[in-house]
Amino acid sequence: MAGRIPQSFIDELLARVDIVEVIHPRVPLKKAGRNFVACCPFHDEKTPSFTVSPHKQFYYCFGCGASGSAIGFLMAHDHLTFPEAVETLAAQYGMTVPREAAGSGAASVPDRHKELLQLNQEVAVFYARQLREPAGRVAVQYLRRRGVDGVTAKRYALGYAPGGWETLCRRFDRARLQEAGLAIAREGGGCYDRFRHRLMFPIRNRRGQVIGFGGRSLGEEAGPKYLNSPETPVFHKGKAVYGLYEMLQACGRLERILVVEGYMDVIALAQQGIAEVVATLGTAVTQDHLRLLFRHSSVLIFCFDGDRAGRKAAWRALEAALPLIQEGRKVFFLWLPEGEDPDSLIRKEGKASFLERLRRAEPLSDYFFHALGEGLDLTRLEDRADLTRRAGPLLRKLPAGPFRRMMQARLAELAGEAAVENKDSRSQAGRAFALNRPTLAQRVVFLLFHHPELWRGVPDSFREAALAGEFGELLAAAANAMESGLSLEEALRNHPQRESLRLEEIPPADPEGELTAAVRTLLEGRHRRSRLAWLNRKADTEGLTPEEKAELRRLLTARVHDEPES
Ligand code: UTP
Ligand code: MN
Repeated sequence: MAGRIPQSFIDELLARVDIVEVIHPRVPLKKAGRNFVACCPFHDEKTPSFTVSPHKQFYYCFGCGASGSAIGFLMAHDHLTFPEAVETLAAQYGMTVPREAAGSGAASVPDRHKELLQLNQEVAVFYARQLREPAGRVAVQYLRRRGVDGVTAKRYALGYAPGGWETLCRRFDRARLQEAGLAIAREGGGCYDRFRHRLMFPIRNRRGQVIGFGGRSLGEEAGPKYLNSPETPVFHKGKAVYGLYEMLQACGRLERILVVEGYMDVIALAQQGIAEVVATLGTAVTQDHLRLLFRHSSVLIFCFDGDRAGRKAAWRALEAALPLIQEGRKVFFLWLPEGEDPDSLIRKEGKASFLERLRRAEPLSDYFFHALGEGLDLTRLEDRADLTRRAGPLLRKLPAGPFRRMMQARLAELAGEAAVENKDSRSQAGRAFALNRPTLAQRVVFLLFHHPELWRGVPDSFREAALAGEFGELLAAAANAMESGLSLEEALRNHPQRESLRLEEIPPADPEGELTAAVRTLLEGRHRRSRLAWLNRKADTEGLTPEEKAELRRLLTARVHDEPES
């Protein structure tokens, strides 16, 4: 572990640095009075609201509120940690970062890492150069056959490992090569190259340092199709992804990250202009992968084969993701048609239709219930009990918050609401819903309490249903008050649920947006309930047509907000 950077050094560094010099090469600035301006690199905009003050050595965006010092800018823009940003700035200004003492002997670890990274870098350059040598022509032809252009090959620093046993061993330090996983010890002493006659993919960390390699065989010769560096002090498959550095270089703000399985998938998508893509390195998706990716985007889309193995891998990714789905983070699954991977698919169908597939990727919430409901007949009580048993422990892995509450509500709905048996459908449905409806209804009341003017904007169908008590007694009382022009303060003063409303909490930034969404969800739930009740009743009396069975199935698992409003 490196020691802490002394605060005095950071002060000195910031005093020396000119923020305009730091930002300008990354975001070209224009002079405007005392300040400089540009279109903000941290949000989408057409007119510049990003300002840099040389006087205050500070940047600030009037559009999105991003602000900070030169160090903060580098962290946000180049996706660096604090020490990395300090190192980068210091290097630019020719300063050496001092470290506070951190225990004896500890200093040797970063040095060792540095040496390995340095060697990897030199080897990557060596491999890349081989593409221009006569021996490397076979690799160039292979790339050409697979449609990889020169620009892309260069961007990903692709290379060629020549066929000899000691190409690297004759040129580099053998002990280091072994430590870097680039050479393998021979039994009788000496060593030989791990990668021979392969197309080489350097794997870089987010700062562009080469931490390992993947190598693809170029023909039918023995050995696996892909060979990866083994675990080394700087390379951990369970923590690294392929394409991270290239993605961060190509993209400013990442709306989403696509996670695929193969090196060639990354290359093909990037070449077609879908640059927000990385691949796992032949291993299952881990929480470390997810944490790394969530640092750069809150939306992750996983591409998996639709076959059994793909679904199994996807489910593992889902399980790893559950504890990490906090505020705003979203996970989707894109199922590939049989026999295709993203590389083959985008070549076959083109970019537009691949983007369309992305748009229709399945949200984690849907996949969760689809997968758990598989093989269950949710019109039977026993199967619904199974669903609850399977889902309960998994949902408890989600961080507490709105998403978890909504998933639990969905479970209650799937397992409970369909519990409509024979005649007594209404009360059954009502009982199941009593568990989950109040949260959303309470939220609506909370929003109206702080913003009564929004009541006029809700759809008539909602008003009527609320007044009729379809969303519970509390919302009925609130609706009544709103309709008769009473204040909610007045109307709810002695209401038994008043405490649980937490009216003292701060209302959200976008109450209207949240109210609209909540109203919509409540209406959709209502529509769904009445339709489910009807279908269940019919199932018990006349039986269902195949179309109705399909509808029932769909209602039990489909995404709520895709349904028409009643
Ligand atoms: P695929 O076999 O699907 O690779 O393995 P691909 O990228 O589509 O290969 P091409 O298109 O034939 O070149 C997906 C990933 O699994 C790992 C690699 O990371 C590969 O990119 N893998 C695969 C291995 O590590 N070893 C292997 O022998 C095969
Ligand atoms: Mn492939």
